[in-house]
Amino acid sequence: MARRYLQIVGTPAVLRAQEHYYGRSRKLTAAAEQDPLGPSEVAFIAERDSFYMATVGESGWPYVQHRGGPTGFLRVLGPTTLAFADYEGNHQLVSTGNLAGDDRVSLFLMDYANRRRLKLLGHARIEDAQAHPDLVEQLAEPSRQANVERIVVIDVVSFDWNCPQHITPRYSAAEVAAIVESLQKQIAALQGRLDGAGARPEKTADRPCP
Ligand SMILES: Cc1cc2nc3c(=O)[nH]c(=O)nc-3n(C[C@H](O)[C@H](O)[C@H](O)COP(=O)(O)O)c2cc1C
Repeated sequence: MARRYLQIVGTPAVLRAQEHYYGRSRKLTAAAEQDPLGPSEVAFIAERDSFYMATVGESGWPYVQHRGGPTGFLRVLGPTTLAFADYEGNHQLVSTGNLAGDDRVSLFLMDYANRRRLKLLGHARIEDAQAHPDLVEQLAEPSRQANVERIVVIDVVSFDWNCPQHITPRYSAAEVAAIVESLQKQIAALQGRLDGAGARPEKTADRPCP
């Protein structure tokens, strides 16, 4: 866990809970204001095609929304800057509305296939798409640029990696297709060798009925 992350989530109540259950709490050491993303975090983010983003509403309730797009749609613009294009969607705008009152976000990025997960804390701001055509061009697929309503820019404060325990491996349709394609190539190669050896099995449909 990056130090700043531990400082932020290690509130007095959290430390009291640790003391209650384990007799001691994790020591909070001095931390920088922000932990910049390193090569591992940048590479991990670039491979994601979805993430979850939590915001806080005016009522104090936490709210989580799933975000999806082409691989790498959550773009790393700098060591502490992330951004993604937000398209016209269901017109609820819960995340957008929440961010107007409280800019804090918690991002949850999953790699189910490799059983890895990364959590990020940051401050998000909304930029209107019409005022930033350059960002729209940089962040959105050409075919969808006309539907971008806003850009969400996240100033990352810190991050935390979790251990793989309890993450059930799951594969996206694209990941399964890549695995199946390699198996199909092997089957075709083996079939070719069988054909070459003249050992192709007779098709049952061609057999005459008794
Ligand atoms: C036509 C349409 C397209 C959408 N495209 C995306 C998309 O590419 N990525 C995504 O995460 N959500 C997409 N959504 C979901 C919405 O954008 C949803 O409104 C958005 O997640 C808003 O969440 P919020 O209410 O928390 O702000 C789409 C919804 C609709 C109706």
